[in-house]
Amino acid sequence: MADIQKVGVVGCGLMGSGIAQVCAQAGYETTVREIAEQPLEKGLSSIEKNLDRAVQKEKIDESEKDEILGRLEGTLELDDLADCDLVIEAVIEDIEIKEEVFGKLDQVCGPDTIFASNTSSLTITEMAASTDRPDRFVGLHFFNPVPVMKLVEVVAQGATSDEAFDAAYEFAESLGKKPVTCRDNSGFIVNRLLVPYMMDAIRAYEEGIGSIRDIDKAMELGTGYPMGPFTLADFVGLETLLKIGDIMFDEYREKRYAPPPLLRRMVTAGHYGRKSGQGFYDYSGEEPEVADFVLR
Ligand code: CAA
Repeated sequence: MADIQKVGVVGCGLMGSGIAQVCAQAGYETTVREIAEQPLEKGLSSIEKNLDRAVQKEKIDESEKDEILGRLEGTLELDDLADCDLVIEAVIEDIEIKEEVFGKLDQVCGPDTIFASNTSSLTITEMAASTDRPDRFVGLHFFNPVPVMKLVEVVAQGATSDEAFDAAYEFAESLGKKPVTCRDNSGFIVNRLLVPYMMDAIRAYEEGIGSIRDIDKAMELGTGYPMGPFTLADFVGLETLLKIGDIMFDEYREKRYAPPPLLRRMVTAGHYGRKSGQGFYDYSGEEPEVADFVLR
């Protein structure tokens, strides 16, 4: 079994920072790489805030927090991931950018390093094929917010060795997560079911089936989901949802994955959901209000 001690994370956004946090919390030496100082600082400070909250809630004490932060290092250089046993990529959902990252990592890292992608909708096969180590290439798909959500989808593609898959599966368990095994297809298990659901909620609204608030309320109270589909879409990020929908539609050519026109208009107008302050809801007040943009 591959011995994973040092983990590299590429990308320190919403997902990358969460992944880096849970790795450092589980005891791994963790180096997280961003492309510029500002997003790196933002990601690292969100980790610190999460840990501060955990201290306030007496889940960890100050010294544990310091130990976790001591295991975490930020960098702007991919070269600093050279001695990692596992590298998890969590950059933007764009195949060219991901292939570029893996192409560079393939040269920088040793031959035993396992590569993993946190992709939501691209296939692991296409990324693995762009490297010289498809046997040591897996999918490790985490869920937002990473420190809270228990699931990790562990994905083997055709060339993944049993050893690399088992190491990735055990690694996910070592983070305190509950892994499931998935075949390598666009969207794996969760997004295969969740993306059509969110797209359909938008279509239902466009068709006048119910208001945004009522559709959210119906799914929360009628099915016990923690968030209705519009609150969830804003939480995932509308530009991310649009990208995932486009990729999945391109792959399957089925209407259920196709982003509805309203979603595309919102992203074009810069309404990305919670992170930009406005999506289906406007988050500028104390309580989220349905955004004027979607009511017009
Ligand atoms: N980061 C870290 N911790 C967070 C957090 C965040 N962004 N948001 C909430 N938490 C923690 C809180 O600190 C709290 O911790 P404790 O239990 O230790 O006190 C816990 O989560 C619960 O938080 P709250 O009480 O504030 O709020 P809540 O009960 O409403 O739960 C939620 C918040 C966990 C986000 C819940 O609403 C939920 O599960 N929503 C659905 C999330 C979901 O479906 N995620 C998957 C999205 S799809 C995806 O990620 C994959 C993809 O490829 C698109």
